[in-house]
Amino acid sequence: MPQTDFLVIGSGIAGLSFALKTARAVQDARVIVVTKADEDESNTKYAQGGIAVALNTFSDSFENHVADTLLAGDGLCNREIVEMVVREGPMRLDEIVGMGADFDKDSRGDYALGKEGGHSANRIVHHKDATGLEIEKTLLARLRLTPNIEILSHHFAVDLITEHHLKGTTRKWNASPATCFGAYVLDLRSGQVEKILSRVTLLASGGLGQIYRNTTNPLIATGDGIAMAHRAGAEIRNMEFIQFHPTSLFHPGDNPSFLISEAVRGFGALLRTKDGKRFMARYDERGELASRDIVARAIDYEMKVNGDEYVYLDLRHLDNDTFAAHFPTIREKCLSLGIRTDRDMIPVVPAAHYLCGGISVDDHGRTTITNLYACGECSSTGLHGANRLASNSLLEALVFSHHCYTDAVKRINTVSLPAGIPEWSREGTSAAREHILTMHNRKELRDTMSDYVGIVRSDERLGLALKRIEILDKEAYDIYRNTILSIAVCELRNLVTTAGLVVKHSLERKENRGVFYNVSLEKTTHR
Ligand code: FAD
Ligand code: SIN
Repeated sequence: MPQTDFLVIGSGIAGLSFALKTARAVQDARVIVVTKADEDESNTKYAQGGIAVALNTFSDSFENHVADTLLAGDGLCNREIVEMVVREGPMRLDEIVGMGADFDKDSRGDYALGKEGGHSANRIVHHKDATGLEIEKTLLARLRLTPNIEILSHHFAVDLITEHHLKGTTRKWNASPATCFGAYVLDLRSGQVEKILSRVTLLASGGLGQIYRNTTNPLIATGDGIAMAHRAGAEIRNMEFIQFHPTSLFHPGDNPSFLISEAVRGFGALLRTKDGKRFMARYDERGELASRDIVARAIDYEMKVNGDEYVYLDLRHLDNDTFAAHFPTIREKCLSLGIRTDRDMIPVVPAAHYLCGGISVDDHGRTTITNLYACGECSSTGLHGANRLASNSLLEALVFSHHCYTDAVKRINTVSLPAGIPEWSREGTSAAREHILTMHNRKELRDTMSDYVGIVRSDERLGLALKRIEILDKEAYDIYRNTILSIAVCELRNLVTTAGLVVKHSLERKENRGVFYNVSLEKTTHR
């Protein structure tokens, strides 16, 4: 079974950036990237708006970007981390441009900077409305030129290997801090679970939008890395802060929901209720460009009061040719559904979009488990606080993958692997006779989270959600213990675990902040 120096779980912006840097810095090291679907499948691939980078010119400054990030985060950001990420942004941007990423320029050859909610300046570097795809393609192209990286697609990381496995069992988990020695990984094509031992492991497994019925996140976003880290005893924090994007396309049955980028509001689009009235000015003086938590909650409120399933995004007053040039993907999608943006308004609805919390890490991406790093959306760095500022996520992944890499390459030669880690055992399991329970429970979880743990929560609904999730948790564990592993079984266990953490952390929070809003705590609203 493979043994490696660096094991990377996930092939989005965080995992690929880390893999490329470590492989180049330690050329005799072996780097393995495991990823559970096609190699480019990730949240990264679907990112639209862009990367927030203050280029510190006459029209913007690091100080302004820091201030906007802190304001959006509603008092819970770590200021030192915010300063670090904002100030290092331009260097990391230069690196990815150096690898070949192409971002839009204006007629003077400067970056054409877009605007998004919560930003006091135009600072969003983008590639039309498909920035993530451009980044993903660039990183994968570079990876193919890097001989000491091996990418294993359709390989699903099941659990981290820790010292608990040395005690002779693969199935008992202990909450005390541990050391990570790699991961058990299910080859989805052969059905075999491989033991991949590694001196350093990076979790870059992305978010968990799939715990909700309506999400912009692709099907891979099932919280696997967070659930694995939790089972291994790592500290997980701020899971109550689920960011709902205000404007996903209303088209019931789509999974994922198609995103209508916030940059479209930055371009001048207006929100209207179904009867055509504007409403954002009643909620915030920044109107349509207030921060995401405020806009999503306002839409949620208007829909509830009016009994509507969606609101409209109106672009009819804007220059349609310029819109088509900046947002070709969004325009195409609308046209495919018969929506002509020069004539029709786009029906939109908020959708679960981003996890602001996750696996606790320090300024070098180190988790509370030795030799285990986490980076990107699965991590909680302190940058986002209670609400991520738009387009700060790609930026965070670029900056933190660099910090993880500098620390990991410094330490790699001091790390050795113990003998005696057992192979995966299938003992006591048999093939699933029917899949209905797994499918039913996944659906029930998504319904529970959407109906009880949405944009606006209450103690009563959270309590009901917890009771149901405890039952789902027990059932998911029983299925996992008794059946030969499949992706459906593993994902169900992880979805239930992470949803449980969202509910528990929501019940623990006694004050409304950022994206977290509990009507039972209305007197404690912070903003
Ligand atoms: P991901 O890109 O999600 O990659 C995770 C990887 O881990 C995937 O390859 C996945 O297959 C793999 N994986 C997961 N579990 C396992 C497992 N068990 N075993 C093996 N592999 C596994 N942010 C911005 O800053 N700007 C934007 O404009 C923007 N637009 C967005 C638009 C959309 C529609 C969405 C959904 C998100 C957007 N975001 C944006 C957020 C941003 O894209 C993500 O937060 C970011 O890309 C996360 O990168 P990542 O590398 O952490 O995870
Ligand atoms: C968008 O384009 O609206 C998404 C930006 C983000 O999630 O940061």
